[in-house]
Amino acid sequence: MSDPIRILMCAPEHYDVDYVINPWMEGNVHKSSRDRAADQWHDLHHIIKEHAIVDLVEPVKGWPDMVFTANAGLVLGDQVVLSRFLHPERQGEEPYFKAWFEANGYTVHECPPDLPFEGAGDALFDREGRWLWAGYGFRTELDSHPLIAQWLDIEVLSLRLVDNRFYHLDTCFCPLKGGYLLYYPPAFDAYSNHLIEERVPAAKRIAIAEADAVNFACNAVNVEDVVIMNRISPELQAAIEGAGFQVRQTPLNEFLKAGGAAKCLTLRTTEPILPDVHAAVSVQSRTVQMRGHLLDAGILNNALDLVVERGGSFKVLNFDLGTERHSTSLAQVRVSAPDSEVMAEIMMELIRMGAVERPDDEQNAQLEDVPLVGVAPDDFYVTTIYPTEVRINDQWVRVGNQRMDGAIAVRHTEAGPVATCKLLRDLELGEQVVVGTQGLRTVRKPAEREQRTSKQEFSFMGSGVSSERRVELVVEQIAWDLRRIRDQGGKVVVTAGPVVIHTGGSQHLSHLIRNGYVQALLGGNAIAVHDIEQALMGTSLGVDMKQGVPVSGGHRHHLKTINTVRRYGSIAQTVEAGVLTKGVMYECVKQHVPFCLAGSIRDDGPLPDTEMDLLQAQGEYARLLEGADMVLMLSTMLHSIGVGNMTPAGVKMVCVDINPAVVTKLSDRGSIESIGVVTDVGLFLSLLVQQLERLTNPYAVMA
Ligand code: ARG
Repeated sequence: MSDPIRILMCAPEHYDVDYVINPWMEGNVHKSSRDRAADQWHDLHHIIKEHAIVDLVEPVKGWPDMVFTANAGLVLGDQVVLSRFLHPERQGEEPYFKAWFEANGYTVHECPPDLPFEGAGDALFDREGRWLWAGYGFRTELDSHPLIAQWLDIEVLSLRLVDNRFYHLDTCFCPLKGGYLLYYPPAFDAYSNHLIEERVPAAKRIAIAEADAVNFACNAVNVEDVVIMNRISPELQAAIEGAGFQVRQTPLNEFLKAGGAAKCLTLRTTEPILPDVHAAVSVQSRTVQMRGHLLDAGILNNALDLVVERGGSFKVLNFDLGTERHSTSLAQVRVSAPDSEVMAEIMMELIRMGAVERPDDEQNAQLEDVPLVGVAPDDFYVTTIYPTEVRINDQWVRVGNQRMDGAIAVRHTEAGPVATCKLLRDLELGEQVVVGTQGLRTVRKPAEREQRTSKQEFSFMGSGVSSERRVELVVEQIAWDLRRIRDQGGKVVVTAGPVVIHTGGSQHLSHLIRNGYVQALLGGNAIAVHDIEQALMGTSLGVDMKQGVPVSGGHRHHLKTINTVRRYGSIAQTVEAGVLTKGVMYECVKQHVPFCLAGSIRDDGPLPDTEMDLLQAQGEYARLLEGADMVLMLSTMLHSIGVGNMTPAGVKMVCVDINPAVVTKLSDRGSIESIGVVTDVGLFLSLLVQQLERLTNPYAVMA
């Protein structure tokens, strides 16, 4: 006969909802009936006594949540990890529970101060004793999991809770005998669900619906073949019984008002110890260092938020706050993640934000051979737009050809290792590729405080907050830059969509090209077709550009245009033949401004110049972007996204679109050099040309 099962409870003498520390308590302060609560607790006590020995801890006045003994601690054998409550409202319970455990012969382990762990509310043994499921995200800190693994010598599987109604693991997760699991999957993030599915076969998972979940169906006490719980739906009852259990329902709605039910009101103090189960934990930690205007520029907030949003946790080990307006701060942060996969995700983001390893624990990057032509090893590091360095043979090597969404290819030459950003399809045998996130850093200049404000969106036609004057101010700034770049022999690349033509921007863009402000043009078939249609017939997609009305038969104009260019062989030949005499494409030909028109599935024609081989077109875009100082993105989301991916940080980007969502998407590169302008692109170009004219000939306008 095995040892009897023991369960710890605490009578509800002082139970009430006195404060709000979870969503269930909201609106329920002092709304529970003490008598009904007492009756419900006694009924539960009665049922449990049929199946286990119940020990009682003395309730204490002033600690109303002490009834929830699940949160006293976590017991295995004669060891207990005492709860370290997150909320001050419950911290006063700790000494009473500690006293009970000590009086009953347990060895008590305590988490360090500021490392919350809420006992068996957030830690549930697999009922076969194989491992411990531990929750985090609301009450318990991830960093407590390795301590528990060590103290209790058991494998800990970390699960992240994401729905604050299910703030403790035992509110949405209940391991049952025989390896069964009753749980509410939406309460967990994707990684956790994946882990659950890895450990518990489908046939043993009983996933419940929201209606049962909000009745705390998972907050059940399983003793051998009996499952004791609050009221549940007949369907769920059938499912649990179908798995071979006997269901005992007992109303506990008075306790639901505080966010608890059957399981919360109990703590099992006898758990099976398997001799061959030992400590194991997949929680990982790494310490990183960040320098810059960490507070003023919000970098530290962003970094720490990101860690938590991605499912990790952090501890700021050191924070050296710069004291003067211009001094930078230095922070050392220990980052924890439930496993190496989540850690890699977090580290990629932190590296992008400029986090580096502490000087003493810098490591070399991990390199793996290219397995197949055009294929990277799994876990390859995905590049960003930021200048990157990679540590090889204890030296930091700058990565060449920086672009987004590539891999870092490494070649070992006589002169030393050479690292280059490459598209997957360009990887060659004999090259190595950086995998993981070790030995990588991005080189960021600490944002100068003044500059930080320049990354804003300026709305013109859009919301009421911004003024025309604001758009004029941005246009002034852009005109100034355009002038400077032109006069210094720099490079401006324009990527433009057909809207530029429809909104009457053709003449202005033509002006920019004619006057040497544009060094390359990137677009698709459409912009060229509509530009030439306008030059030849005065319409754009059949709309008269002077009158603004569709002309009869106009919808065929663009096809006639395409046909004309096809007859002459190319846009340049149409110009040479004296047929095409104005417009954007005409100016490109005349000024020898190279262009690339990338084809797509919807292209009519296409024009002979349109590159329908997309790989070719991508290559050509990248070539034309090389060495650019500025990119003007004019109302084409598709081509602009492509361009954005190919362009490293440091290149000034101006994105103009009438749709704020497009502007946000494109200008949100986390780099200060991008400016978004929400406005009509035709209007923008006309303002820009006006401003450039004003710079060239200041007195003409003032007269
Ligand atoms: N009012 C208590 C709290 O918010 C309820 C605790 C429920 N216990 C549990 N193991 N889920 O802490």
